[in-house]
This record gives sequence, C-alpha cells and structure tokens, in this order.
Amino acid sequence: MRSVSIFAGSVYGNAQHVAEEAKAMFESKGVECEVFTDPETSDFSDAEAVVVITSTTGQGDVPPNLELFHSDLRDEFPLMNAKPFAVAALGDSSYSDSFCGGGRHFQELLIELQGKPVADMLEVDAIETLAAEDEVVPWLEGLVESLTEA
Ligand SMILES: Cc1cc2nc3c(=O)[nH]c(=O)nc-3n(C[C@H](O)[C@H](O)[C@H](O)COP(=O)(O)O)c2cc1C
Repeated sequence: MRSVSIFAGSVYGNAQHVAEEAKAMFESKGVECEVFTDPETSDFSDAEAVVVITSTTGQGDVPPNLELFHSDLRDEFPLMNAKPFAVAALGDSSYSDSFCGGGRHFQELLIELQGKPVADMLEVDAIETLAAEDEVVPWLEGLVESLTEA
C-alpha cells in the first residue's frame, strides 16, 4: 500500500487545517501520511502518492509557502511516471476570474509531470462552505483506494 504525502498551501490556515484532518483520516485507514508545509522537491520525488490541498491568494496565485516549491518543480521537472495524485483547491468564487487558481496551477503542473489524476480537481468555495474539511475529507476518503493501491 502506498503512503500519501500531502502538500498544503495556506495563507490563513484553512488549507493547513484541512490537510491535518485529511492526514488523520488516512491514518485511521492504516495509510501512512505526512503533511508538508515547507516542502523540497525531494519530498515530492520521494512521495508514493501525492495530494495537494491549497488555497489561492493574490489573483489566482499559489500561497507563498508553496511558491518556491511550485517554481522548483517547474524548473527541475521531476516526472511522476503515472504516480497517483489528487488536488483539492480552496478558493472564493467572488474572485471570478481567478477562482481556485492556486489549485489549478498544481493540477496543470502534475498533469504535465505525467502524474495520474485519480479524480478531477475538487473546488471548495468559501462563499458556500464554511468548513472546507467537510467537503475535502469525505472526497479524499472516496479516493483512498485509487491513491494507495500499488
Ligand atoms: C488577499 C486574498 C486573495 C485571494 N485571492 C483569491 C483568488 O484569486 N481566487 C480564489 O479562488 N480565492 C482567493 N482568495 C480566497 C482564499 O483562497 C480562501 O479564502 C481560502 O479559503 C483561504 O484559505 P487559507 O486560509 O488556507 O489561505 C483570496 C483571499 C485573500 C484574503
């Protein structure tokens, strides 16, 4: 069974909190899981299955704590060889032109890196959902098998 590495991009703590709740869910299913908030590209290359949980800041931007990670991945381009991944994007639809842009940047990059998306990117709208973990954790629960099967 693959372990899961969660890369959490967060400005005010929402996405980080969701990532911690997701880790608890994975561990309750016997899946080894680590949350990275200041990752290196080696953490990404070492990951057996990748989950990105990220908010959006600025105008569709990746949060500062994952900015360097994102640009290093672009530069180093570590191919994923069909490694499974899933991206959950926290955003606010009042930013209509850049809704969930941070998540979209990762979704596009991981596809370019030839990862295997196990689901379409999940978009969580802060206007509709106060507790993002109530959407993200059950969504990931439904993906446990596709993320961790060898
Ligand atoms: C300054 C600022 C800029 C934001 N820009 C966007 C944006 O461009 N697109 C979007 O979908 N959400 C945007 N948001 C909404 C956040 O992504 C959303 O509130 C999210 O839940 C915050 O999670 P966090 O606490 O993990 O950072 C922005 C929020 C702030 C405060």
